[in-house]
Amino acid sequence: MAAMRSNPEKTDRFAYLDALGIDVWRLRGNDEPLEAPDTEQATGSHASWSDIRAEVSNCQKCALHQTRTQTVFGVGSETADWMIIGEAPGAEEDRRGEPFVGRAGKLLDEMLRAVGLDRQTVFIANVLKCRPPGNRDPLADESSQCRAYLDRQIELLKPKLILAVGRIAAQLLLGTDAPLGRLRGRQHKIGPAEIPVVITYHPAYLLRSPAQKRKVWEDLCLARSIVQQASSSRS
Ligand code: URA
Repeated sequence: MAAMRSNPEKTDRFAYLDALGIDVWRLRGNDEPLEAPDTEQATGSHASWSDIRAEVSNCQKCALHQTRTQTVFGVGSETADWMIIGEAPGAEEDRRGEPFVGRAGKLLDEMLRAVGLDRQTVFIANVLKCRPPGNRDPLADESSQCRAYLDRQIELLKPKLILAVGRIAAQLLLGTDAPLGRLRGRQHKIGPAEIPVVITYHPAYLLRSPAQKRKVWEDLCLARSIVQQASSSRS
């Protein structure tokens, strides 16, 4: 049974929404209690996760291994309902070995908290596990070499929802070159398991274009409703 959130936590959530620049209380008045994340432990998949972790950390499939400080596998719960997929590690992520730890990462944390989540209860990964020098876009060859790792992460995690942030992750996952503005705001499904995917703007873009935060909030609400629906139809 899902835990009910108390009023002080609701106030906290509104503070995060405020940090996002979203007047949610005026817009929606949505004070529905959030579902607590599924905290069941992984059952028997540890070997596979450790295999893929080892493979990623030793990977030399593309030239990025020559310039990386370390690989950035991903972080979070291996039994998470939500999987967040970004583009590639930046300088700070390359230094620390964890995705989304720079300024954009702080905003991603705020986005997650706005829907009652944090980086321990979701799983966060990138399309690329190594930093492209100068933070350039991933090359087609780099994305296709690294794609197998991402696909295996998705297969192991079996998330109830993938939230793809930014154009690079969105286009790769959906196999399209449609602009992000046309992909966000609705549900897509990928793979034989038809995993629901919601696309939204990248937090680094939001830092430059805060006017888009409202759309991101709508995308987060859509994502949350998909997870809630999947959870209630399984119980
Ligand atoms: N941007 C991304 O897409 N991923 C990160 O890990 C950091 C910044």
